[in-house]
Amino acid sequence: MTGTVQEEAFAGQIRGMFDRIAGVYDLMNSAMTAGLHHRWRERAADRAELGAGDSALDACCGTGDLAFELARRTGPSGRVIGADFSERMLDLARSKAAARGAAGVRFEWADAVGLPYDDESFDAVTVGFGVRNLADLEGGVGELARVLRPGGRLVILEITQPRRPPLSTFFGLWFDRVVPLLGAVAGNRDAYTYLPESVKRFPPPEGLALIMDRAGLERIGYIVLAGGIIAIHSGVRPS
Ligand SMILES: C[S@@+](CC[C@H](N)C(=O)[O-])C[C@H]1O[C@@H](n2cnc3c(N)ncnc32)[C@H](O)[C@@H]1O
Repeated sequence: MTGTVQEEAFAGQIRGMFDRIAGVYDLMNSAMTAGLHHRWRERAADRAELGAGDSALDACCGTGDLAFELARRTGPSGRVIGADFSERMLDLARSKAAARGAAGVRFEWADAVGLPYDDESFDAVTVGFGVRNLADLEGGVGELARVLRPGGRLVILEITQPRRPPLSTFFGLWFDRVVPLLGAVAGNRDAYTYLPESVKRFPPPEGLALIMDRAGLERIGYIVLAGGIIAIHSGVRPS
């Protein structure tokens, strides 16, 4: 799939940004969430409803943590691919896989809006904190649904904006003030100013559910965690 010139320019900026922050990415996640991000990925992996021997794609895999969660569920007889378009993120994911001796998981380059996989290839497809960065969200969700086998599940873990005080007030202060400061300390203020902006631009949970519906998925639902900061959507490709 080829995007417009603007979409490709945006994707190039996003890729460059993730290449630059790859080295501090895991540390920043732990600092920003007090370590809770691991638990959110576990919850997302649970919603993929995978079993031993299944196949799964984790798109926008970054440094690999959600792919590792999937591989724990599919076991050594399963097949998990972590795919990302940032080579620096993939390098880190591969180093972590080697250090953990993670069996059944492979990391490879792929653009989520034009995946190099056949239709109906995977029992589940997941994306953790990734779809918010897609230049063409609607096209990207359609592409993720395309590679799901009938009956397979798409799971999307994302940051969302709490709507009611006091959490909405705390979220505003934390994301608009503290996160860019933490990013500056880590040497990447721009990337961690982009983060809250990208969350504000992203559709609310019911909007993402509609996009999944338009991608032809059914049994769409979502849970909201951490007082409304995190949403996990899931939908099933019709049989
Ligand atoms: C915020 S990180 C999330 C990483 C990981 N999924 C996690 O749970 O921490 C977003 C990742 O999506 C990747 N990404 C963004 N747009 C992409 C695209 N169009 N195709 C593939 N990867 C993409 C970035 O390179 C980055 O590694």
